[in-house]
Amino acid sequence: MKRLFWITITGALLMSTLTASGARAKSASTTKSPWGKTPDGEQVDLYTLTNKNGVEAAITTYGGAVVSLKVPDRNGKLGDVVLGFDSVDGYVEGKSYFGAIIGRYGNRIGHAQFTLDGKTYTLAKNNVENSLHGGTKGFNKMVWKAKEIPAKDGQALELTYLSKDGEEGFPGNLKVRVVYTLTDSNELKIEYSATTDKKTVVNLTNHSYFNLAGVGPGMGDILGHMLMIEADKFTPVDSGLIPTGELRDVAGTPFDFRQPTAIGARINSDEEQIKLGGGYDHNFVLRRKPGDPISLAARVEEPKTGRVMEVWTTEPGVQFYTGNFLDGSAHGKGGVAYTKRSAFCLETQHFPDSPNQPKFPSVVLNPGERYHTTTIYKFSTGK
Ligand code: GLA
Repeated sequence: MKRLFWITITGALLMSTLTASGARAKSASTTKSPWGKTPDGEQVDLYTLTNKNGVEAAITTYGGAVVSLKVPDRNGKLGDVVLGFDSVDGYVEGKSYFGAIIGRYGNRIGHAQFTLDGKTYTLAKNNVENSLHGGTKGFNKMVWKAKEIPAKDGQALELTYLSKDGEEGFPGNLKVRVVYTLTDSNELKIEYSATTDKKTVVNLTNHSYFNLAGVGPGMGDILGHMLMIEADKFTPVDSGLIPTGELRDVAGTPFDFRQPTAIGARINSDEEQIKLGGGYDHNFVLRRKPGDPISLAARVEEPKTGRVMEVWTTEPGVQFYTGNFLDGSAHGKGGVAYTKRSAFCLETQHFPDSPNQPKFPSVVLNPGERYHTTTIYKFSTGK
C-alpha cells in the first residue's frame, strides 16, 4: 500500500515536469540574491520567481518593483516585456516609477490637499500644483521587507512596509502588505492589503510599463498593440490632469476601446482630452459585472509576437498611460534609452483625486477596516 502510494506520487511529479509538447519544463523555484544598497546603505535584494512553464518574474525589495517579466511569444520564445533597470541605482535615481508599487495614493490629488472629518491634510506638490503617486518619497522609493510564502498555485513573495503616521503628510500608521504570486497559469497576481490606526486615504497600484513585443536593444514603440478596455466611460481631466468630476461616454471619442483598436490609431488626434494628456493618460471607469469577485479590465495583443496580456481587477478604474513623459533620458536594461510611447501602463486603481471628489467611489480607510484589492496580469498568446 505504502509503496503504491510513493509510485503514484513519483509518477505525478514526473508528469508535471513534462509540458504538453513533451519537452522537459523547468521546475518552479524562487531565488534571492543581493542587489546592492541604497545611498543610505540599506541592503536591497532581488527575488526571481520562476513557474513550472519557465515564465520568470524578478522583483526587487526597492519599491517592490517588477524588474523583469519573461513570458513566451507564439513560438514559445521567452521575452522580457517590462521596462526597468539593471541595478538598484536606476530605481534610486528614476523618476518614472518603472514597475514599482505606488502609494500611499496612486495618481494625483488636486492642489496636494484633502480634508477628512474637517481636518485639512497638506501634501507635497511634486507635480506642478498637485500631489502625484504618494509624494516626494512614495512607496516606490522605500525598501520593503520580503518573505517567500507558500502558494498553492505558484511562487509567492510577500512584501510589507509600515508607512508611519504623518509620512508624506498622510494621517495614520498604515501597515501595507503586497503579495506577488507568479502562478503556473502564467499570471502575475498582485494582492494589496492595508490597515490603519487613524482614518486615512489609500490607493495602491503597480506601475509596470509593458511592451509585449519585448524590451531591449532595437525595441520599438507600442502603437501597433491592439487594446481593448472594458469601459463605457472615462474621467476627463483639466490641464493639470485632475479629473473634472465628469464621467464621459467613450462612444465617438478616441477613448473608445470597447473593440480591440491599435493604441496608435487615434493617439495624435486633435481631440481636446488627447491634447491635454499628450496622448493617453486617463482613468477609465471599468464595467464591473455585479457579483463577480474580479472582472476583466483590459486585453492587449501584440500582433508580431502574438503575446496577449489580460488585466483582471477588483478595482473600479484603470489608468491607461502611453509613456508620454518618457523622453529617452532614462537608460534602462542593456543601456536602452526609453523613449516616448516605448511602453504603456494599465494601472488599476480608484479614480485620481478621489479624496476631493465626493461622487467618486470612496478611498477612505477607517481603523478596524481592511483595504484589500487584487489585480492579475495574465499572459497567453493569440493568433
Ligand atoms: C501616471 C500618471 C502620469 C505620469 C506617470 C508617471 O500614469 O498619470 O501622468 O505621471 O504616472 O510618469
